[in-house]
Amino acid sequence: MSTTQLEIIPTSGALGAELHGIDLAQPPAPATAKAIRGALAEHGVIFFRDQQITPEQHIAFAESLAPVNINRFFKPVSGHAQISEVRKEPDQTRNIGGGWHTDHSYDQIPALGSVLLAREVPPRGGDTVFASMWRAYDALSAGLKKTLEGLRAVHSSRHVFGAEARRQRDMGDRLGNAHLATQDAVHPVVIRHPDNGRRVLYVNPGFTTHFEGWTVEESKPLLEYLYAHASRQEFQTRFQWRAGSIAIWDNRATWHLAVNDYQGERRLMHRITLEGTPIS
Ligand code: SIN
Repeated sequence: MSTTQLEIIPTSGALGAELHGIDLAQPPAPATAKAIRGALAEHGVIFFRDQQITPEQHIAFAESLAPVNINRFFKPVSGHAQISEVRKEPDQTRNIGGGWHTDHSYDQIPALGSVLLAREVPPRGGDTVFASMWRAYDALSAGLKKTLEGLRAVHSSRHVFGAEARRQRDMGDRLGNAHLATQDAVHPVVIRHPDNGRRVLYVNPGFTTHFEGWTVEESKPLLEYLYAHASRQEFQTRFQWRAGSIAIWDNRATWHLAVNDYQGERRLMHRITLEGTPIS
């Protein structure tokens, strides 16, 4: 194990940083892993380039950051239950993660984040866009912040990973275990980030269904206002993948969206999800 001096280069004025000077084929020393976790908390999403690593090295790197969460819906990589395949074949029209969302908000303890490694990328397109939910929160008016302070929202996996959703979304063998899409979770609409105390807007278009105690119809206008606000370009960074690129994002502080603009080409990513800690 080696201790490494990282070079950290921000990728936009809102969030995101590229980390240079590290070879992830070797698990980072504890001090380096702590610095990577620190960069993740500060920047919301971090990127590495040109990492030619095996599935075992991918897992060892992820485990150096946090315990690994075994995803129950994504098809695992053969022989590696810890790694989910995020794949789109040339003849498929729908991609995985093509709308704004934050992973696992339907869990009682949402995942800390994911370590996504590009295995095969299309010759052009297939970027991922990330948005900062602390910047979205900070830019709200004092009045709306006060209104949101007391609210909680319901998050569900049913409409995304349940049997009907799976059929409609043309996911084929890419997703499974539809019968496990039964749980809902309730979280505050504004959380305090467990690592740095920042106030973060914690609703997302993928999994949030309504405010607790409100109907879906009553919730819709305010949720739609928040979604339009939070998806403003000034809160974003965009990542262009190459094979061997890695992104790690913080699910408690960011949204992401996989751009589906490479029809007829294959894109294959390996994703490891990291266990989170309780949010409030
Ligand atoms: C995801 O939403 O987890 C996948 C993002 C991507 O494929 O870029």
